[in-house]
Amino acid sequence: MKKLGILLSGRGSNFEAIARNVQAGKIPAEIAIVMSNKAGALGLARAKEMGLATRFIPSQGKEREAFDREVVAVLREFQVDLVCLAGFMRILSPYFIREFPRRVLNIHPALLPSFPGEEAQRQALEYGVKFTGCTVHLVDEGVDTGPIVCQAVVPVLDDDTPETLAVRILNEEHRIYSDGICLLLEDGVRIEGRRVLPKL
Ligand code: GAR
Repeated sequence: MKKLGILLSGRGSNFEAIARNVQAGKIPAEIAIVMSNKAGALGLARAKEMGLATRFIPSQGKEREAFDREVVAVLREFQVDLVCLAGFMRILSPYFIREFPRRVLNIHPALLPSFPGEEAQRQALEYGVKFTGCTVHLVDEGVDTGPIVCQAVVPVLDDDTPETLAVRILNEEHRIYSDGICLLLEDGVRIEGRRVLPKL
């Protein structure tokens, strides 16, 4: 059975959606470890309640790579095959990416390459796009720049606020993150340049 490592910094609703799909047998893997750089992360508490292994590794005041080395050591300890960032609000060092090449996934609340970084829903509203959405992508050394695994489109409504838009995008995030994880776990993809395509 393949092993997932989840990294989160906050609420953890994407983690919970993944956990539900693992429990339901829709994702052919187990969650080996849930880690957070925030002691009070709600997602970490939920993982504990579910009986999953959890670790809190503080990031404050640490060099990026020093923190990443601690995280990678724990991922290795739990023999993690695929790392899933689920609202993990930190940029990974080149060291981390090299340790898990094409084995780190992220979910972002916009149709990349539009609106990378923070407050993607607010960025979309302020730009005035009529459609936005979410993206599951492989993580590379940039900020939200890695090859795109799957996306879902969400219309922007005239009376949307960043909060109402975020709720509708989140529903789609919960659906497509598991799809993206399954694709990667099944080794069902090949990567040509930036394109993630079904295996021939
Ligand atoms: C999600 O909307 C996720 O896409 C976003 O943070 C939220 C976490 O929610 N991630 C980013 O913006 C990463 N750049 P959650 O903790 O409930 O899963």
